[in-house]
Amino acid sequence: MVFSRIFGKDRPASNQAEPQEETAEPVDDNSDSPDLEVEDGPDESWATRARRVIVGGASTGSKRPDRLYGDPTGLPTHFLRASGCRVETTDGLQLIDCTMALGSVALGYAEPQLTRTVIESLANGSVSGLPPALEVDVAAALCGVIPCAERVLFTKTGAEAMSAAVRIARTYTGRTTVIGCGYFGWHDWASDSPGVPSEIQKQFRRVPFDDIAALERAVAEVGNDVAAIALEPVIERMPSKAWIERARSLCDERNAVLIFDEMKTGFRLATGGYQQYANIVPDLAAFGKAMANGYPIAAVCGHADLMDAAEHTWISSTLANESGGLAAVGAMIAWHERVDVCQTLWNTGKEMRGVVGAALEASEVSGVAIDGIDPMWLMRFDDPAVETAFLAAAVSNGVLFKRGAYNFPALAHDEEALRDIESAASAAFVELRERAGR
Ligand SMILES: Cc1ncc(COP(=O)(O)O)c(C=O)c1O
Repeated sequence: MVFSRIFGKDRPASNQAEPQEETAEPVDDNSDSPDLEVEDGPDESWATRARRVIVGGASTGSKRPDRLYGDPTGLPTHFLRASGCRVETTDGLQLIDCTMALGSVALGYAEPQLTRTVIESLANGSVSGLPPALEVDVAAALCGVIPCAERVLFTKTGAEAMSAAVRIARTYTGRTTVIGCGYFGWHDWASDSPGVPSEIQKQFRRVPFDDIAALERAVAEVGNDVAAIALEPVIERMPSKAWIERARSLCDERNAVLIFDEMKTGFRLATGGYQQYANIVPDLAAFGKAMANGYPIAAVCGHADLMDAAEHTWISSTLANESGGLAAVGAMIAWHERVDVCQTLWNTGKEMRGVVGAALEASEVSGVAIDGIDPMWLMRFDDPAVETAFLAAAVSNGVLFKRGAYNFPALAHDEEALRDIESAASAAFVELRERAGR
């Protein structure tokens, strides 16, 4: 029984448990579990099994084995349980997670109080034929903490929230072209992936980060058809204030809409995102990820007159105001009011990248740089094979780092976790040095 492996009682108790034995006839110790049998050989890895039934092995592209490690052979690919900053893998490993689910978790996994709040709201019915009263309260609370927010529209994913923002901007202005910088999710409007019609691609102009001249050029070339400038305000470093201010003034001059994608920066740099941190208010903004500590909900918000344009088009989805996600957002806003979550993320991130940086320096390994800002920092390797070797060595020493993208601190990364991160990074860099010396 496949599920018996997930919910079964025989869990490894130790930190570095022996690899889970897959017997030819696994014991069915969970007779209530659904009878979902997937044919698999006893020695097959979870990566192989996953690849057979899920596109690429995981529905979230950045969690596919090749994205996790570069060369995934033999490294853990799936988790059974996650708590605080630790995950228990299907191989029976306990790993400290520095990725925090692509930055969607800021407190820690399965935070008990937040989990209870979500479960209580789900127990009262996750949906009904009427929208939940909770949606009104949570929207009002968001308007209280996000500078640009006068109205809110909830969605389930960040890509959806950004697509909604762009649809609203196009409806409001009656124009088409969006000039943008950043990653906005997988949807057609900002993608040049195979399968996106070239006509759609022409309606989006990508500009480089923090380049005023390029932004001005793009706006001049697009002329009167600029519906919006959409920016991910922080990409590996803070932007110059001049760039953001020029985006603001170009939108004002052209009656175009300034959109901030605050998916990573919201509830992380500051509760109200980059706009609060830098005191530059966009017309519309999209939030998600840490806003709900890992529950599936996102939001587009903005000035009332603009947001009301959403009523002249059609943006809606069946589960947009499902209660579990809303409860998580409400609880997170209250959390931020009680505790300075963002300051702790800055401090913890500084310590986390500091200990990894110290380990790197002590090892004298070259070809690795540490970049980003404290609440979202990354390692850059000149050689992808060296990066894979580092990630594998870190995992074997109990820590999961993110390949080619941000590591995100959480409140759950306590002093003990930081010490363990330091020693795992040290051991991994020393292994790299020894490999290079061979
Ligand atoms: C800045 C930004 N915008 C949009 C998205 C898309 O969000 P989602 O993956 O929830 O659709 C992401 C996801 O990583 C993101 O980082």
